[in-house]
Amino acid sequence: MIGGAPVFDAIANRFYDLMEQDPAYAELRAMHAEDLEPMRRSLPRFLAGWAGGPRDWFEANPGKCMMSLHKDFPIDRMTAEQWAEAMARAIAEVAPEPANIAQAMTDVLTRMARGMAR
Ligand code: HEM
Repeated sequence: MIGGAPVFDAIANRFYDLMEQDPAYAELRAMHAEDLEPMRRSLPRFLAGWAGGPRDWFEANPGKCMMSLHKDFPIDRMTAEQWAEAMARAIAEVAPEPANIAQAMTDVLTRMARGMAR
């Protein structure tokens, strides 16, 4: 409904561009590996499956969940907020249609990110 793999690729690439270029996300950037290429490929496939599309990421990563993926990272309120803000900006800039579904996706991802702060 939201446009398939090209839309998730565009959102993930914009998200990691912002993370790399905007100093507002410095702490979030520092938590990630130097090479963001694997995440540019992985996150859109995760999001596509999570949103009800093809589940190839989940099939390639059996048993992995949001908690196990992130358990080694010291996610606090600041880095969770940086994630949520960069993702909201990325979705807004890609501006997929329908806009109400894009807004719902932003809202859910914001709540998820905030819920991961320890
Ligand atoms: C709350 C703030 C968050 C922080 C600080 C954070 C941070 C990270 C970091 C540091 C990694 C490892 C990246 C690397 O190896 O370079 C990672 C992996 C990952 N994150 Fe997050 N994350 C957050 C929220 C989320 C959310 C809300 C989602 C999805 C909706 C998500 C999806 C993923 C996925 C799918 C991976 C692993 C991909 C793979 O290994 O195939 N993250 N995250």
